[in-house]
Amino acid sequence: MTSRKCSPSDFIFKEELGHGSYSTVYKALDRRDVKNVYAIKVCSKQHIIKEGKVKYVTIEKNTLNLLARANHPGIVKLHYTFHDAQNLYFVLDYACGGELLTLLHKMGTFSELWARHFSVQLVDTLAYIHSQGVIHRDLKPENVLLDQTGRLMITDFGAAFTVDRAEQLGAHCAASSSFVGTAEYVSPELLLHNQCGFSSDVWALGCMVFQFVEGHPPFRGENELRTFEKIIALDYSWNYELHPNKIATGKPATNPLIVSLVKKMLTINTQDRISLRGIQGSSWFDGVDWDDKRTIWRGIWQ
Ligand code: ADE
Repeated sequence: MTSRKCSPSDFIFKEELGHGSYSTVYKALDRRDVKNVYAIKVCSKQHIIKEGKVKYVTIEKNTLNLLARANHPGIVKLHYTFHDAQNLYFVLDYACGGELLTLLHKMGTFSELWARHFSVQLVDTLAYIHSQGVIHRDLKPENVLLDQTGRLMITDFGAAFTVDRAEQLGAHCAASSSFVGTAEYVSPELLLHNQCGFSSDVWALGCMVFQFVEGHPPFRGENELRTFEKIIALDYSWNYELHPNKIATGKPATNPLIVSLVKKMLTINTQDRISLRGIQGSSWFDGVDWDDKRTIWRGIWQ
């Protein structure tokens, strides 16, 4: 991040891109060079204070600053922050492809090729985030954005938790917490023990990989409580596993390698749940060279 001091008048604000519980994101052009397009997250100070969200905004800023250091392609970069009397402003990378969830809804399901491509990028990014001691805690397709070539960027670190070095070295770094995250992707350890660790992000990733190929998250109840009951009962099933080679839909049975990998990610006991290293070694990713960042980070539409 540069030390340039900004104010809202440095930008031309365009359309709204989305909004969260305490913020709205706008597309914005740099007035000095309109070729520079950003996404600016605007957080109302009054709202943040009234709703007790100061902690989350501070976490998000500190985490994005920490993660921006390595310029990892899979993380939305924070370029500047500033504030005025009403608002806090986060000037972020603009991801012109929008949310991964929107693309998934448009397509229904992703082909195995796309699901694998997106999963590889998510695993690589998560490995970097975890290496910095950060647990995202709210991974879901709404918090994954796309650029023009189909490269992914993880965003929204408002629920993140940073584990200090000493804890990181410990066998099980659990972060006790009140409920954070989104019902469908929340881990059983948070529901059962009010704890969360690096492996809670692996659980959410498992939910996402399932969703890529099935079109919906694995655990969905009529309300949050039913969703939670399904999570702790590990009550999910594969449509295309139950009905192999569905001729009517033209969709083949889900590759057993995906079913087996997701099963290892959606394991209730955190000690038995697969690690990111284990995921990288899964047969579904045979042929992926995890050290070859250029291949991992190639787009799919370029
Ligand atoms: N919606 C939310 N954040 C965004 C970003 N950084 N780029 C594009 N759309 C977004």
